[in-house]
This record gives sequence, structure tokens and C-alpha cells, in this order.
Amino acid sequence: MSYLDTVHDVYKAAAEAPDNQLCCISTPPWNLPDLEVPEIMWEMNYGCGTTVQPRDIPKDGPILYIGVGGGLELLQFASLARRPGAVIGVDTVPEMIETCRRNFGVAKTLNPWLVDDMVEVRHGDALDLPVEDGSVALVAQNCLFNVFRDAELKKALSEAHRVLREGGALSLSDPVCDKPIPEALRNDERLRAQCISGAIPLQDYLDLLVETGFGTIEVRARRPYRMLDKRRYDVPENILLESVEVVAYKTPVPADGACIFTGRFAIWTGDDELWSDGKGHDLVRDVPLGVCDKTGGALESLDLPDLFVTPRTWHYAGGGCC
Ligand SMILES: C[S@@+](CC[C@H](N)C(=O)[O-])C[C@H]1O[C@@H](n2cnc3c(N)ncnc32)[C@H](O)[C@@H]1O
Repeated sequence: MSYLDTVHDVYKAAAEAPDNQLCCISTPPWNLPDLEVPEIMWEMNYGCGTTVQPRDIPKDGPILYIGVGGGLELLQFASLARRPGAVIGVDTVPEMIETCRRNFGVAKTLNPWLVDDMVEVRHGDALDLPVEDGSVALVAQNCLFNVFRDAELKKALSEAHRVLREGGALSLSDPVCDKPIPEALRNDERLRAQCISGAIPLQDYLDLLVETGFGTIEVRARRPYRMLDKRRYDVPENILLESVEVVAYKTPVPADGACIFTGRFAIWTGDDELWSDGKGHDLVRDVPLGVCDKTGGALESLDLPDLFVTPRTWHYAGGGCC
């Protein structure tokens, strides 16, 4: 029996009886205009953040959602896109697919704009997506990839990359850890399936995205998710799990490394009204420019008294140097 069977069992149970403690976060659920979310979808919110941002909604092309849960985020995506063929949701657990479809039946009674052809929920595996190469504008997954071990995580990321069109985005929300989780705990299949012990450090998560071929990455949110405390878990010291929201774009990885935005800004305060590093980064005096970590590091290393680079906020919100 593989650990993926345990994943299956955990989500079969979570489909049959909502478990509002599974993967939950302490931030309140948020609403969208002209969208009524069925209560059952809130109860089955098995995500550890959000992958739904209005600014990411493509004008055309489908949104592929991997691991549908109760359907909350599919409904939110459909509400923002509101066009035929907008969202395809895939899942490997038949009971979850059935529950999700049933929840959409409720959602339709509450939202007259929601029609049948906007959302399709079908059987499909993150590790072998039933979708053509380069055919999807946006891929999203919330709190699924962290349950995978290294080999499957790499496969899931490469599948997402394969199905995306050039420039398309992968929106992810997952727990990460501030220090490596001991192997014995990582091997606890039930805790892993429950999104408690499969987390990897954020830097490893970002490195894997770059290795997969994502050339531009944004870390948009980072907040506490759980404590693996040493009184209750077999850990030598407490390990903080954080939930991160990351968007990775299918753009070529530049020869000098990917552009990873973590909320840093560069500010020029010198005599000249405009300062340039000669590499395309033009700073207007006193006006912050969002910079990726690569550029931020390079500017810092110049050690100029009138050039400031702010620390990472882990809340990048658009605009920038690359
Ligand atoms: C933690 S839940 C997250 C559900 C949803 N994304 C949310 O935010 O509420 C993980 C989901 O992934 C599904 N799943 C598990 N293994 C999968 C796989 N290999 N491929 C696709 N979906 C899978 C589960 O059935 C479940 O619906």
C-alpha cells in the first residue's frame, strides 16, 4: 500500500463528512461581489490560504484547478471569470468529485449567473493531468502538493508546467516549515495526508519551482498555519508551519537565475533625479521600485550610501523590475 492510498482514504472521509478542522487557517473566509457561497462549501474549505485573486483571471483559456475539495475555489474562480469553459476541476477521489458536483448543484440555486458549462469537474490526477500540453491559462492548487513526497511533488509541478501555455501562471497555496521536519514525522502517512507533516522549507519549495522551469515567481502571502510543538509531536524543538501563497509564471528562467519577488523595494535618494544600474533598473529619486531578490541582492552588494533595498515582506503585490 502506498502513502497515496492514505491520502485517498483521508479525502474520501472528508468528502463524506465535512471536517472543518482539516487544513483550516485562522483568517476569516472572504466574499466576492454577487457570489453566494453555499454553507457546505465553507465547511469543506480544505485549503490553507487562497489561490483566487481577481488580477490573475485570464481573459481567455481555461483555469485548471487540481484537487477540488468541496468546490469553494472553483466557484470563486467561476464567479470571477463568468464564461463558458472557464474552470476545469480535477480530483482522484470519486466521493470528492461527487460531493463537489452536488455542492455546485446548491451553488446554482443561489447564483443565477452560474450555468452548467462554466465549470466541469472530472476525474484527473495531479501526477498525470488529463489535459493537453500548453492548453491552460492558469493552474491552481490549494493544500494538495504538500502531501506529496519529493518524486511526486516534482511530477506534479512538471505536469502543471506542461499543461500551462507560455506566460501562464501556477497559483499555489501550501504549508511550509521553518526548519526541516524529522523523517519519522514525514513518514507518518496520516499526518502527511492531513497537510501537517509533508511541508518543506520555503526556500526548497521555491527552488523546486525554478528547477521545474518557472522563471518568475511571486510570494504573495505568508502566515502562521500550525505549530508542531515538541510536547505533542516527536520533534526536538517546536516547528512553525506557515501557509504561503505563491504564483509561478511559465516564463523562461534567465541565465542568471529566476526572478523571485518577495516584497523587496529599491529606493534611490541621491542627488540625481534618476539613477540606473545600467541593467534596465531605473530608479526615480525617492520612488520605491519593486525588485526581485536577485536584483535586490545585486543592488545591495554595490554598497552605495544613497541606495536602499528594503527587507522582504513576503507580501508581493505586483509591479517590479524584471
Ligand atoms: C487538502 S484538500 C484541498 C481541497 C481544495 N483545494 C480546497 O482548498 O478546499 C486536497 C484535495 O486534493 C484531492 N486529491 C488528492 N490526491 C490527488 C491527486 N493525486 N490528484 C488530484 N487531486 C487529488 C483530494 O481529494 C482533495 O479534494
